[in-house]
Amino acid sequence: MPSSPVSSSAASFPEHPKNPASWVQQSEAAVSAAVEQLYNTYPFPPDPLLDEPPPGYNWRWYWPAAYSFCSGRLSEHNAVRILDAGCGTGVGTDYLAHLNPEATVVAIDLSPGAIAVATDRLRRSGGHNVSFQALSIYDVAQIPGEFDLINCVGVLHHMPDPIRGIQALATQLKPGGLLHIFVYGELGRWEIQLMQEAIALLQADQRGNYTDGVQIGRELFAKLSDTNRLVQYEKPTGPLRTPATNALQTCTSIPKKRTTTSRPCLS
Ligand SMILES: C[S@@+](CC[C@H](N)C(=O)[O-])C[C@H]1O[C@@H](n2cnc3c(N)ncnc32)[C@H](O)[C@@H]1O
Repeated sequence: MPSSPVSSSAASFPEHPKNPASWVQQSEAAVSAAVEQLYNTYPFPPDPLLDEPPPGYNWRWYWPAAYSFCSGRLSEHNAVRILDAGCGTGVGTDYLAHLNPEATVVAIDLSPGAIAVATDRLRRSGGHNVSFQALSIYDVAQIPGEFDLINCVGVLHHMPDPIRGIQALATQLKPGGLLHIFVYGELGRWEIQLMQEAIALLQADQRGNYTDGVQIGRELFAKLSDTNRLVQYEKPTGPLRTPATNALQTCTSIPKKRTTTSRPCLS
């Protein structure tokens, strides 16, 4: 189980100054700092570390299958370059590394705490073809070379400017390469958004203190009835799933998480 390497304190957001452009820049930086702080406090996902390759199979992370699905052709070679953008604690990275042993995988994340867990995960599972870097997607151009496959799962909605995030990734994509994006759906998460709002109200001036937010979230969660949809949704679904309230912890205390339909992101 990943630990919580960094304790949190209330994140501060800048006052609205007279110059709106500088305020936007400052608030973008403040949101990114708050996101980093959250994921240092609660690296995600909290899946257990295993001393073996990850179980099962996911075709979207297996280059030959993803390539032929998208292009209708067989891939000419499998020694591809893969970027896992916003890798978190490396659960997806682990699949990318083991399903594509001929590939070179680069994994980046804003949170050094998450990178530390991901590095440990890959060391223990025996995935040797991965290098990690604490880096924002905004700065991804700092990595030399292009990628055949860019995987970006559960990340863009955390960015103050997701369109700029996609554009930054697109510049690193090889012509004909694949960009695999997952963002939270607007409708599927409305109960979680309500919970976030409720917790933020109850936190008052402690807003931005993630351990406090989680504590309040746990208390609220314990009071929900068994038939509540959040409770149903958070029931553990298998032996490898850690108690799902861990996932709720992240959701209930997120500093800036937007739900996004594919239309604004992809237009
Ligand atoms: C919900 S987790 C998803 C982790 C992983 N992709 C997965 O699906 O298991 C979101 C991750 O995005 C990272 N993140 C948020 N904004 C980022 C940015 N601008 N650049 C890089 N990583 C970012 C966070 O630090 C966090 O680890």
